[in-house]
Amino acid sequence: MIKQKYYLIKTYGCQMNVHESEKLAGVLNLFGYIETSEQLSADIVVFNTCCIRDGAEQKLYAHIGALKSLKKNNPNLIICVCGCASQAEGRAEIIKKKFPFVDIIIGTHNLHVFQEYLESFIENKKYICDVWENEREINENYNALRTSGANAWVNISYGCNNFCSYCIVPFVRGKERSRKMEDIINEVKNLIKEGYKYITLLGQNVNSYGNDIDDKNITFAKLLEKCAKLDGNFKLKFMTSHPKDLTEDVIKTIATNDKICKVIHLPVQSGSNKILKLMNRKYTKEHYLSLIKNIRNHIPDCYISTDIIVGFPCENEEDFMETYNLIKEVQYDGVFAFMYSKRSGTVADKMEEQVSNEIKRKRVNELLKLSKSITKQKNSELIGKVINALVDSYDKEKKGYNTFTDSGKSIFVPSDKNIISIHSFHKVEVKRMINNKLIGEFLN
Ligand code: 5AD
Ligand code: SF4
Repeated sequence: MIKQKYYLIKTYGCQMNVHESEKLAGVLNLFGYIETSEQLSADIVVFNTCCIRDGAEQKLYAHIGALKSLKKNNPNLIICVCGCASQAEGRAEIIKKKFPFVDIIIGTHNLHVFQEYLESFIENKKYICDVWENEREINENYNALRTSGANAWVNISYGCNNFCSYCIVPFVRGKERSRKMEDIINEVKNLIKEGYKYITLLGQNVNSYGNDIDDKNITFAKLLEKCAKLDGNFKLKFMTSHPKDLTEDVIKTIATNDKICKVIHLPVQSGSNKILKLMNRKYTKEHYLSLIKNIRNHIPDCYISTDIIVGFPCENEEDFMETYNLIKEVQYDGVFAFMYSKRSGTVADKMEEQVSNEIKRKRVNELLKLSKSITKQKNSELIGKVINALVDSYDKEKKGYNTFTDSGKSIFVPSDKNIISIHSFHKVEVKRMINNKLIGEFLN
């Protein structure tokens, strides 16, 4: 009898990586591997890496290092490191030196060749380290093994042209390349047919979708509209939006199509015009606030979330307070606050007046406290409201259903009976809040 082989993929970072890991899983499946969550039973471990902040990178190195003894005990174990960290300048060399037991190192630009590398390694057992300097044409030839439940991720573009001064993404993901609209729509159609209830369109900056295509009719608003007009019981999401490119067309398209979730993740990064300029974000606080006003005018119940970086070089107390006050003014539904992390090769890396870790920590904690209190207030305002939610699972111990709103907010619906089908949409009336957790009742 042939022994079953197992794979373990460790994914770091953003949704883009989560989806790329699904594509890697698709390849591993072709080789006969199935998934395990146990490191000890794995025949291959793949690290799909992130380098957006130093913390993510250091955590990754600690995790790779921890496999040394496992490899010693099981020399047949295959270890592969791929993705953003191995693509970043000089990192492949570091990984090679620090972790000589790693078998395959590849970057982001040659991830689609994973199948060939693995085939060659299995055949020859010869160490592979290949990181391409530049991006190539989009590869449409993949079979993702999807892992995100009712949600399916769909890339609409790859790479980024923005070069925000703190960000390493354009260096490791290359120039922005949009997929053809018909390829995206065909993929979305198939996913709806397969029964996915949420389709999330992915790009570093979804709003600049099509800018690299000659046909001026190819825009993000058009793409959204076309996807939203497809038949089926599904909802559309997208991320991430850049405020400099979010057009009124897009806002109106979201407002007028029931199938598009009223959810916008709109990273502001800072509330200080001085810092926004140094970050090369290409908008002002005033422009950003006018966008928020416009969104709320067209979509009054829109769920708006943001990313913030605190402690960017030259950020003083006054700049920080502008960010603090902007969060208070916008009353975000979600705030993801990060401490600025120096990334080599970026413009900000060479800026003077770096902020101390102690101040960064203090500022990030202040923002988290503020956003927690806003969330609590907003959650309490939901009591009595009726919300469309997706049933995710039945919890036998707690006796009730875990449901999620379009924005990912969880509402627990107590019930003795497990009779409602999983991954179906239902109207839920929010009844109360216990320890900041929403409790509801099905209306249908
Ligand atoms: N330091 C801290 N946070 C960063 N981000 C991007 N680069 C850095 C960095 N060097 C944050 C931004 C971005 C999110 C995905 O990560 O807020 O929106
Ligand atoms: Fe990084 Fe800015 Fe591109 Fe986002 S838009 S990926 S923050 S460079």
